[in-house]
Amino acid sequence: MNDYIFDENSKERELRRLQLVERANDLTSIALLEETGMEPGWHCLELGAGAGSILRWLGQRVGSSGLAVGMDKNTAYLQDCTSTPFKIYKGTFLNVTLPHAFDLIHGRYVLIHNQSDMDILHKMFSLLKPGGWAVFEEPDFTSATLMEQDAKSSQARVNQAICQMFVNAGLDPAYALSLPRKLEQAGFHVERAQSIMHLCPGNSPMAKVIGESALVLEQQYCHTGLCSPKDIQQYVSLSQDPTHWALYHSTTSVIVRKPFT
Ligand SMILES: C[S@@+](CC[C@H](N)C(=O)[O-])C[C@H]1O[C@@H](n2cnc3c(N)ncnc32)[C@H](O)[C@@H]1O
Repeated sequence: MNDYIFDENSKERELRRLQLVERANDLTSIALLEETGMEPGWHCLELGAGAGSILRWLGQRVGSSGLAVGMDKNTAYLQDCTSTPFKIYKGTFLNVTLPHAFDLIHGRYVLIHNQSDMDILHKMFSLLKPGGWAVFEEPDFTSATLMEQDAKSSQARVNQAICQMFVNAGLDPAYALSLPRKLEQAGFHVERAQSIMHLCPGNSPMAKVIGESALVLEQQYCHTGLCSPKDIQQYVSLSQDPTHWALYHSTTSVIVRKPFT
């Protein structure tokens, strides 16, 4: 299994970063999860639960007769999810054994970080009940280049470095683009897919996440040879400027089902 790019981030800083991810995305994710018609009593899995906002929402939604399982290699931010309907499993996706079958699985921004994404998808397929639902949401960082007018600007150079960092790690910066096809290959039936362009002003939650990620990953970005610390500085200050609009990435969300037969 490959390393996760934020493994070395400090506990407090990573919590802040994950909470920004949640602020930027939760409303969209919750609307997608509601589309499955979920009900009290359902058994749900949050794959890569992070700071836990969606896991907590799932728990509230399924109630005490249901089950809300959170799985992550880092469960430091899920310490409050100890009683019914919650269960937390700490470990890597492919190594943890889950003695459950699920009505619903949700995973956001997790597959792009894993070279063994197809094995993870096959495992998720096997964990779903027949007719069960899953919602996967993944980014495409190459979308950011659509808005670049000057390929030599700091913004453009950092965007290129982000993509190259994923390539250097054996990962796909445009992961979202292959998500529907990979889900079908794993056996899922695609019900609906949507893509959102994150065209945002500076200081918005999404701009802050990407700016904060650039600060944490500065060395990896500069190591690609495509940007300098000065470019990162400029990129981060634009991400904090409410008058500056930028395209950070796009997110593709796919609602799928496991066929009954
Ligand atoms: C970018 S964060 C997203 C967190 C959360 N899904 C969200 O969108 O708010 C990715 C999360 O997946 C976890 N993760 C990534 N790959 C993993 C793996 N192979 N096994 C266990 N956890 C993994 C990381 O620890 C991290 O908490």
